[in-house]
Amino acid sequence: MCGIVGCIGFDESIDIVLRGLERLEYRGYDSCGISYIKENEVKVIKTVKRIENLKDIVSYKSNMCIGHTRWATHGKVNIENSHPHVSKDGNLVLVHNGVIDNFLELKEKYLENVGLKSETDTEIALEVINLFLKETGDISKSIIGFMNVVKGSYAIVMCYKKHPGVIYALNYKSPLVIGKGEGFFTISSDMGAVSDITKEFHSPISKSYSIITRNEVKSFSVKGVPRLVDFYPVEIEHTEFTKNGYDTYMLKEIEEQPAVLKNIMNLYKDYSFDQELINTFKEINRIYVIASGTSYFSGLICKSIIESKLSIPVECHLGSEFGHGKQIIDNKSLFIFLSQSGETADSTLVLDKIKGKYKTLAITNSKGSQIDQKCDYSLLVNAGVEISVASTKAYTAQIATLACLVARVSDDDTLYNSFKKILTMQQQVIKRKQELKVLAKTVCKYKKIFYIGRQYDSNLIMEAALKLKEVSYINVNAIAAGELKHGTISLIDEECLVIAIITDPKISNNTRSNIQEIKARNGKVLIFSTNQTMKAGDDFVFDFDEVHEYNALVSILPHQLLAYFCALKLDLDIDKPRNLAKSVTVE
Ligand code: M6R
Repeated sequence: MCGIVGCIGFDESIDIVLRGLERLEYRGYDSCGISYIKENEVKVIKTVKRIENLKDIVSYKSNMCIGHTRWATHGKVNIENSHPHVSKDGNLVLVHNGVIDNFLELKEKYLENVGLKSETDTEIALEVINLFLKETGDISKSIIGFMNVVKGSYAIVMCYKKHPGVIYALNYKSPLVIGKGEGFFTISSDMGAVSDITKEFHSPISKSYSIITRNEVKSFSVKGVPRLVDFYPVEIEHTEFTKNGYDTYMLKEIEEQPAVLKNIMNLYKDYSFDQELINTFKEINRIYVIASGTSYFSGLICKSIIESKLSIPVECHLGSEFGHGKQIIDNKSLFIFLSQSGETADSTLVLDKIKGKYKTLAITNSKGSQIDQKCDYSLLVNAGVEISVASTKAYTAQIATLACLVARVSDDDTLYNSFKKILTMQQQVIKRKQELKVLAKTVCKYKKIFYIGRQYDSNLIMEAALKLKEVSYINVNAIAAGELKHGTISLIDEECLVIAIITDPKISNNTRSNIQEIKARNGKVLIFSTNQTMKAGDDFVFDFDEVHEYNALVSILPHQLLAYFCALKLDLDIDKPRNLAKSVTVE
């Protein structure tokens, strides 16, 4: 969510920033901009289009530059609200990730007579720093003054016209790293933005500020006390984002799932997990899964796997909801943080609160991310970089990785064979994608859609509905099939489409009864069943070897493809749906 890239000391700094922003664009793409200082003037170039448009309009070279790609929080998507923001007197320019919670308070207290150009909390932060700069004449004092009055989260990267060879960076709760290259430094919200040119990174401690020149980095606490600046090597495999012949990342990533599963099977074949982590499972009474969005829905599947194989009770919580009320937590609890990006603020905030009190395990796709680094244990899901904002392969990779861990804890040696069959079933679904393309034509005609299912399918429908709504913008909801009659059925009429998923023969008749109730009210129904639950006339029947907790690894694929084909049919921006961002780093 929003991306920051800066570079100092390298003649091609603007290029580095533009390339880095392009790599971060999938995190937020409402607008973007860069700034540099030329002949004592702060230059700013912004656009509400994509980074490639920005590249087209930048022709200058500079040995320092800062840039930003925005996901709007305060203020509409327009040039005025996009970053970088320049202070009214033209002295300071900055980019910001995070949210200034007390922006109104700051405005009232310090900026009563300052006419602001934008609707953003960022501009308020900028003018407060600038006010303190005018009062003290000292940039460090102004930064410290700001950090003492601001509430919220921020990674701010800033330039001061009078100090053209310096970049200032301050951070609290929002990710920021400083990379060290040959004779230059980078400053970014994400290592991946610059991992092709910098292999060593310094992570400034939270609530500190750094002064970066081409030769050195100095860091200070909020009290102005110098902090150690240590660079550590980070081996991040630099992946040039490529669609490999596909038109979209979403389709590429859906089709990568069998390969990802194979990779996970190979990696965890011998189930060689940290013995301490394995022992932990023997000591705990309860597991808390903390996650958001698709990762939360994969958490619901993980809950079934853990409870059925290990008989340890599991509570799944949305990161944004956890910890608000009175929480009764067993001392012997393990917290599992599921996150593709490893940077989701709703989850990292929970992690910060509970760290040290309970054991923590990260299951993430992002090495070096906050969740990966902060948890006591971390398992990488090895799905390969996921670019499409709609998460697909990370969902199945999280479930598969957790299943491997559970198999190791329970000494279950049957998983490998189950996965082999699942892999074949995934491939079969992908081969039949044209059938889903045809079904998508029907789905796209509806403005009101419900997914229904029971038991394992009642968890799956939530992810299926999320996938469809986020890329097609159709109003899609998921409801447990048996729950329809308790209220939601009043919405069913001839304008409504219900997509039913039936994978378990034991309860298929119950769902079929609910389908009759829908048809009796003129609702249109599409049925997704399996070779074990099918009936003549079902719309998509796929193969299932046996019904078990890992079914989602197969049964989600038709719905990922359906969502994809709906977005394609509606001619939407499939990889970058409106209003979304890949990595949600604000609360
Ligand atoms: O990176 P995370 O897995 O923590 O992200 C969680 C959600 O933001 C993410 O799954 C989101 O819901 C996606 N848009 C789903 O496709």
